[in-house]
Amino acid sequence: MGQLILEVEHLKKSYVNNVPILDDVSFSLQKGEVVVIVGPSGCGKSTFLRCINRLEEIDTGVLKLNGVSYEKEKKNISKVREKIGMVFQSYDLFPNMTILNNLLLAPMKVQKRNKEEVKKEAEQLLDRVGLLDKKDNYPRQLSGGQKQRVAIVRAMLMHPEIMLLDEITA
Ligand SMILES: Nc1ncnc2c1ncn2[C@@H]1O[C@H](COP(=O)(O)OP(=O)(O)OP(=O)(O)O)[C@@H](O)[C@H]1O
Ligand SMILES: [Mg+2]
Repeated sequence: MGQLILEVEHLKKSYVNNVPILDDVSFSLQKGEVVVIVGPSGCGKSTFLRCINRLEEIDTGVLKLNGVSYEKEKKNISKVREKIGMVFQSYDLFPNMTILNNLLLAPMKVQKRNKEEVKKEAEQLLDRVGLLDKKDNYPRQLSGGQKQRVAIVRAMLMHPEIMLLDEITA
């Protein structure tokens, strides 16, 4: 038996007029497990990932990270988010910042890590995805797939326990 890291129990989520987008969804994830969610456009895949990251309020249901309900962490939801990295469907890089500065922002501001240490790790990861030569470029100078790889590196730099990847094969 692996270690349960994420549990979703009877999740319900609607946006308008109580029309359910997610209707009684239960799901669990073990450490090291890779799960792919497939479904037609508009069926609620991105919504589901945003609920897991608590970027969306849910209507009912229970979400647990490492056995602890999100409810218990309500006052400190950034603690939950820090453990869950997310690569958004639209990547959401800051257009006015270079690739390297996009990568340094959260580890330095949120996690208060040392700039040189993060920079070294960022450059190693950029090298690994073949983008080290783009570190001083701006997002508009990169292709869609290259931006996506930068967004993956940005999420990995936070050392999350779970990575949520929206449309990762785009
Ligand atoms: N903020 C919002 N307010 C109202 N309705 C929304 C909102 N976000 C998404 N929806 C609606 O919820 C449904 C699910 O959207 P979602 O983005 O989760 O779909 P998806 O499965 O990720 O689709 P795609 O494959 O096109 O990315 C859609 O009908 C969408 O129009
Ligand atoms: Mg989507």
